[in-house]
Amino acid sequence: KLMKVFLTRRIPPEGMKILSTAGVCEVSLWDSDEPVPREELLKGVQGAHGLLCLLSDKIDAEVLDAAGPNLKVISTLSVGFDHLALDEIKKRGIRVGYTPDVLTDATAELTVALLLATARRLPEGVEEVKNGGWSSWKPLWLCGYGLSGSTVGVIGLGRIGMAIARRLMPFGVKRLLYSGRTAKAHAAEVNGEFGLHIFDYLFPLFPLYSSDFIVVSCSLTPETQGLCDKAFFSKMKNTAVFVNSSRGAVVNQEDLYEALSSGQIAAAGLDVTTPEPLPTNHPLLTLKNCVVLPHIGSATYSTRGIMAALSAQNLLGGLQGTDMPSELTY
Ligand code: GLV
Ligand code: GLV
Repeated sequence: KLMKVFLTRRIPPEGMKILSTAGVCEVSLWDSDEPVPREELLKGVQGAHGLLCLLSDKIDAEVLDAAGPNLKVISTLSVGFDHLALDEIKKRGIRVGYTPDVLTDATAELTVALLLATARRLPEGVEEVKNGGWSSWKPLWLCGYGLSGSTVGVIGLGRIGMAIARRLMPFGVKRLLYSGRTAKAHAAEVNGEFGLHIFDYLFPLFPLYSSDFIVVSCSLTPETQGLCDKAFFSKMKNTAVFVNSSRGAVVNQEDLYEALSSGQIAAAGLDVTTPEPLPTNHPLLTLKNCVVLPHIGSATYSTRGIMAALSAQNLLGGLQGTDMPSELTY
């Protein structure tokens, strides 16, 4: 008898094909490109053996209870898993699959693009060309900040942070600082210098504050929630550029707005916000020195196809009680 799986969204065909040809499960899905309404999610998971979800789906006790005791596996089409209530999932003995590694390069590329676009003011420049603001070549117009000779600070030198650092070094970065829970052996490849533990109470001495660019690439946990707040921005250089491609909630957005509008820091590039989508009347969107992207770090055709295939394979492994190519150990 086929097991029942529920998909919270349409996913790329690479994933659908694996599920439909495996002969293991019967697939039902929220057949849309838009998020599944909560009540439809609660209905859809009923009796499911497997759930394939996205980072925008909050999977908590209510969803798990709605699914019932059949549920063996949750496969998320993302590397982040802060949307999953892991304590509740663990209680029920459910396995979890996710998609690390396969999106590292795409996400690092996007982060570098966002950093350069923000530091060199590309969106402003494009806008000026279109609206007639380009009156001549001007020595002091649209100047920004360059990477050559700079100091870059990376918060969270994990898979993606490391891939970002590797891509930035050839631009002539002079020093690469990083912080996180622990020093990383792989940091040697980019001459990374380990800062204090980011949650150290010697916060004022946090050495990342000499950075010209600070890139956030850590996962969202209770420890990193709101990490980049007023105190944090107040210690950054006035010429510094802040970039976040991890999770919006690592940043206190009111404090970021204040830092950007007061000139405390030079600019910010965000691929992630709270909430997502960011309302179009959000104060951050009124600032020329804030570049906001709609969470597109992993959005290349090929990466999304590979993510879909991997999440389908994770789901099948969980259903059949066999190896999952990327099982989250938690
Ligand atoms: C993207 O943010 C992901 O977690 O995959
Ligand atoms: C810029 O275009 C220059 O020629 O310096």
